[in-house]
Parts: sequence; structure tokens; C-alpha cells
Amino acid sequence: RALPIDAQAVLAWYDKHARTLPWRVSPQDRARNVRPDPYRIWLSEVMLQQTTIAAVQKYFLRFTELWPTVGGLAAAPLEAVLVEWAGLGYYARARNLHACAKAVVEQHGGVFPTTAAGLLTLPGIGAYTSAAIAAIADDERIAVLDGNVERVLARYLALDVPVREAKEELRGYLQTTVPERAGDYAQALMDLGATICAPRNALCMLCPLQPGCTGAAEGNPERYPVKAEK
Ligand code: ADE
Repeated sequence: RALPIDAQAVLAWYDKHARTLPWRVSPQDRARNVRPDPYRIWLSEVMLQQTTIAAVQKYFLRFTELWPTVGGLAAAPLEAVLVEWAGLGYYARARNLHACAKAVVEQHGGVFPTTAAGLLTLPGIGAYTSAAIAAIADDERIAVLDGNVERVLARYLALDVPVREAKEELRGYLQTTVPERAGDYAQALMDLGATICAPRNALCMLCPLQPGCTGAAEGNPERYPVKAEK
């Protein structure tokens, strides 16, 4: 149907346009082979689940200043974690966060797992979060599918059914496209969805996927993802 995704073009775009975020490894550090810390990636992903990047940044900096390691977070009283979480909303996330930190200490000696399968056994970590951490922290070649990436793929493929009816199809397709730099690829697709392939004004002329994108070729990419019938 559509052309295969050009993962190398996506990575080249990311090398130029990646957003600078406090949990990402800077290009300079990356050149020195510094790897992302799975604890920091996990913390950022849990915070980002229902909160915007702009709002999350100062909380992320505060948490990592107070608790630079998962052991520190596990040892903190739950009340202290809830106090620092105030304003982020969805307090169940903070309770799960603390429970997960304790589980990493008790079951893994304070060393965060980095495989998706290992991560999936921890409290509060589901399919998306386990895949995101494994890809970003350890370049596990696994599809990372969030709402932004679903929109990118729905447009690329001109998907004519609602994404929730095709989630496993999208995941399977994405899985076939994941390159060696799996963590950068995952973050590149998230950044593309957030900044280029936006819900309303898709900036196709800036998009590395434009040459193969069926939604763009049709002339109205914003028509995807199609809505479910009510
Ligand atoms: N949204 C959730 N996780 C993200 C990440 N790692 N990069 C960009 N946007 C995100």
C-alpha cells in the first residue's frame, strides 16, 4: 500500500531537529557514548503519560535533584513523593511510581531492568512504557506506539479505520521498520508527531516521511486518523 518507512531519513531528521529535553542525552554526551539512565527515562515517561512536555520539565528536574537514583526515590516517604507530585495530577501515578521504585530495589537490587519483558512485570508499567524505556535506554528493537506515533502512521498509511481498531496492525507494521538506533527512532517519531505531523496543521514540507506518505499524497493528511462512528 504505502512505501516502506525510510527509517534512516527519520534518524537524519532527528539528528538535526531533536528537541532538547532534560532526560535526553545531549549530542556531545552521545558522541562520548553516554547512555540514557533508565531511571530518568522511566520517570519522564510516567510524568508524560497525562501531562504536557512543557509542564513536566520542572517536575522532572525537581525529582531528579531530590532523588537522583531509584534507590533514593524508593527510600523516600510516600507522602514526600505525593507533595512533590502536587500539580501533575492523577495521583495514582505517583503511588505507582513509588511502588515501582520499591519493586526495583526489592526485586532487582536497585538496578532498573532495561528489557521490555522485564519492565512489564513492574507496577504501573504497561506496553507503551516498557517499550519506550527499553528502546530509549537500551536500543531494544521494539515498536513504541503512543498517540502521536499513531497519528503519524495513520497518515502515512492512509489508514481508513479508527486507530483503536488497528492498534495491533499499526504496532506490527511499526515493528518491521525499527532500525538499530531504536531509541532515537522512537523519540524521532514522537517529536515528528508533536511538531510536524500535528493534529491540525501538518507541516508536510518539513517532514522526512513526506516522500512515501499516502496521506500527504492524497492532499488532506489531517483527515487521518479517521474518527470512530458514534
Ligand atoms: N512523549 C512521551 N515520551 C516522550 C519522549 N521520550 N520524547 C518526546 N515526547 C515524548
